[in-house]
Amino acid sequence: MTSPSLTPRRALLALAAFLSLVGAAFASKEKPVIGLSLDTLKEERWQHDRDIFVAEAKRLGAADVVVLSANSDDTAQVRDVESLISKGVDVLVIVPHNGSALSRAVKDANDAKIPVIAYDRLILNANIDYYLTFDNVKVGEEQAKYATAHLPAGRKARVVRIYGAPTDNNAKLFKQGQDNILDPLVKAGKIEVVHEDWATNWNPDAAKKIMNAAITKAGTNLDIVVASNDGTAGGAIQALSEEKLAGKVLVTGQDAELAACQRIMRGTQAMTIYKPLKNLATLAAKVAVDVAKGTKPTTTATLDNGAKQVPSIYEQVIAVDKDNMMATVVADGFQKAADLK
Ligand code: BGC
Repeated sequence: MTSPSLTPRRALLALAAFLSLVGAAFASKEKPVIGLSLDTLKEERWQHDRDIFVAEAKRLGAADVVVLSANSDDTAQVRDVESLISKGVDVLVIVPHNGSALSRAVKDANDAKIPVIAYDRLILNANIDYYLTFDNVKVGEEQAKYATAHLPAGRKARVVRIYGAPTDNNAKLFKQGQDNILDPLVKAGKIEVVHEDWATNWNPDAAKKIMNAAITKAGTNLDIVVASNDGTAGGAIQALSEEKLAGKVLVTGQDAELAACQRIMRGTQAMTIYKPLKNLATLAAKVAVDVAKGTKPTTTATLDNGAKQVPSIYEQVIAVDKDNMMATVVADGFQKAADLK
């Protein structure tokens, strides 16, 4: 006999509910299964995050980490999370592509009693259990502080601003940090923002187009490009080099990607923000394993995500240029000196 009301979605949810009972039994065991849902593996950093997280979770006793990446697609990421729920994972760790698009999937995790940890990027308006990240406002402040410590003498600096993906809550926090430093200088008449835009999906090609548009609109007489990460910095620098301006305009970044560190040593990018991923990924693995085993992790902050005050932990970031590259990124083993020659 078939029930006409048993839609595929209901069947999936019923299965998820059943498996969550099994999952609850797992949770008291010493060997939890962790689901890791990533937005993307496009930027180099997420590959490091994944590798460190998986290794550390296994070292701490996780039986398995099931990793899925959604390729910057909201529908795919909702499907990934639903599939991890139906696999009966004991805890979910999610880097959302879109901070606002996952609340339904998180609700299904809540119904299945699977704890949810937001990693690096916040999930908005959803009942998540923890948020582990870097100090994202500080990232933006450090980018803008570096840029404005190098203003041209005797004239107003001409600045282009390239923001990240409008779907990423972090991109807004980076902008907010930049605003904290840049707005007073705009008001004081020390700098002028000649062009600004958001790079869809943090795409370097989108950043290149923004830079091309900036040059078309404002000309080649530019001083600073506040690019929000290394990928967008790379796109901007490509557009600048086509105009023989690479190295003449100060460009910021974030992530300490290999290509960006090489550009810094060569002089086409001025700085990056080093985020010690080891600290965040190691912490997240510990929190995930603890939560799965029913141990309450210690948090140091709370953040309002629109639905609740989410217990959070922030890791610190470091501004890096040519002068402190060896003492930070290289000394930490994040990049190798030989690769930067
Ligand atoms: C991360 C950055 C990263 C960007 C693009 C942001 O949410 O915090 O480290 O460069 O996403 O993936």
